[in-house]
Amino acid sequence: MCGIFGYVGTKNGVTLALEGLRRIEYRGYDSAGIGVFEKNKLHCYRAVGKLENLEKVVQGKSSTTVIAHTRWATHGTVTIENAHPIMDSSKAVAVIHNGIIENFQELRAELEREGVVFSTQTDTEVIAQLIAKCYEGDLLKAVQVAVATLKGAYAIAVLHKDHPDMCVVACLNTPLVIGVGIGENFVASDPNAIIHHTREVIYVNDGEVAKITADKVELFDSAFVKIPHKIETLLHNVEDFSKGAYEHYTMKEIHEQVQSTKNAMYARFFEDYGTVVLEDLHLKPDELLAVERIVIVACGTSLHAGMVASYLIEELAGIPTEVEISSEFRYKNPIVQKGTLAIAISQSGETADTIAAVRELKAKGAYIVGLCNVVGSTLAREASSCLFLRAGPEIGVCSTKAFTSQLVVLSLFALMMARLRYMSKVDGQKFLKDIAEIPEKIALVLEKSHQIEAIAKKYAAYENFFFIGRRYMYPSSLEAALKLKEIAYVNANGYAAGELKHGPIALISETCPTFALCADALTYDKVLSNVMEAKARHSKTIAVVYEGTKGIKSIANEVIEIPNTRDELAPILVAVVCQLFAYYVARLRGAEIDQPKNLAKSVTVE
Ligand code: G6P
Repeated sequence: MCGIFGYVGTKNGVTLALEGLRRIEYRGYDSAGIGVFEKNKLHCYRAVGKLENLEKVVQGKSSTTVIAHTRWATHGTVTIENAHPIMDSSKAVAVIHNGIIENFQELRAELEREGVVFSTQTDTEVIAQLIAKCYEGDLLKAVQVAVATLKGAYAIAVLHKDHPDMCVVACLNTPLVIGVGIGENFVASDPNAIIHHTREVIYVNDGEVAKITADKVELFDSAFVKIPHKIETLLHNVEDFSKGAYEHYTMKEIHEQVQSTKNAMYARFFEDYGTVVLEDLHLKPDELLAVERIVIVACGTSLHAGMVASYLIEELAGIPTEVEISSEFRYKNPIVQKGTLAIAISQSGETADTIAAVRELKAKGAYIVGLCNVVGSTLAREASSCLFLRAGPEIGVCSTKAFTSQLVVLSLFALMMARLRYMSKVDGQKFLKDIAEIPEKIALVLEKSHQIEAIAKKYAAYENFFFIGRRYMYPSSLEAALKLKEIAYVNANGYAAGELKHGPIALISETCPTFALCADALTYDKVLSNVMEAKARHSKTIAVVYEGTKGIKSIANEVIEIPNTRDELAPILVAVVCQLFAYYVARLRGAEIDQPKNLAKSVTVE
């Protein structure tokens, strides 16, 4: 949520900031703004909507000190007034903020009693007004004193009119990274915003405040004591952020899945031995053998990958596995017995609820395996071991290639656990052979794009859909429905097919098509009965089946075939079908596909 960028140096920070914000715009795109010094005077420029609107406003501007922000609205509607940077009443202080200040109402009331007049609805204005109030010539001290009164989550960057060569930053429960350059320094909420300028970074820890000038970075702890800082080197590549020949990032990323699934499995198994080797998993075989229970925490699409994994791990390895929604789990008092292994799944590695769940699990002594796409992210740093997806940057806000890569890595993990226990070498070899064929089978699904587009055309005008499936196809139906909701803004329910008769069937009619995910051999006949039940209530039916499935064409209105594979891996191929369907429906309805309204890719607030 909300992207932060800051620069102090000798170059034109406005250009650098626009470029930096572009790389983190997926964090929010309700409005954008920039704070600059022009002729040593502090000015803020802001625009509602996408970054291109701000670009027009700041054309030709130049400043060697800047702070810049892209907003996902929490407190206060999407207006120019509520866009960041937010200034105090005297226009001395400018603040950009990512996070939520939970005690902002009491702080605001207190300031108002003292006569401060607020001009925005944001929680951020409280920070700006507080810093202005605490300022007695020393910006660092003012920020230190002000943030000590804040509760909640924040990453902030602050400018003051009297200090055109300085930026002060602070954070609590929200990521913030300082990029250390030569004669210039950067700050960002995500290393991706600065990696093309410098690979030397300092991760700001909770409660710390830093003073940044062109040639110096000084860090202070919450007791205001200066602390030494550790400079780390970003090792990952500067990623490809271009759209290529595609109209949308989402479509580009759907097509990248042939390669991204290959990357996810590359050098992670030995087919000859039927075994998996996860080099980034720092657990010895005896430690893996001691695992008696697995808890998976995740949100959104990552949660659906976790659900598939729970079926896989229980079935292949026989280890009891629970999946928990991070935002629920964090407020439980979870029981973490000896022998519990925790898996936290997060594409971004920044989802606040998942990070909080991880911290709770760590506090209870669990070993955390992170599954993450972003090197250097909070999850990657906090997990005891982190398995990377290697999917490359996922820019489209709805997750596509990260999901299928998560499924590949989780399948390998399940197989590894199974081989350490009861699975034979021959069964391991067969499984690995099947997984190795997945990328080429994804390519075959992509070849069906025209058929899926034609089906999308027929159904794009419907306002309600059901996606149903059993066993591995149940989480697949949840994910398929989520895709349609996210990018096409169409109401869609993902449901366990067997539960349909316990209520939702009341909603099924000719106005609500049923997408039956039937690529599960074990439950195929049962789902077929559910398709018949939907049909009997005049619902149009679209069936996704394994190639060569007999009889289905005379039952369902539409049939989409996927290449044969084992049931455990079918969710990967079905996901691609449903991503394409959602994409085409969204495009036909004229929806904003890469940056759907109200969403953000990295949800760093609760
Ligand atoms: C947001 C995104 C979803 C994503 C979810 C979890 O809601 O819009 O696409 O699945 O966050 O994100 P994570 O980075 O933790 O996988």
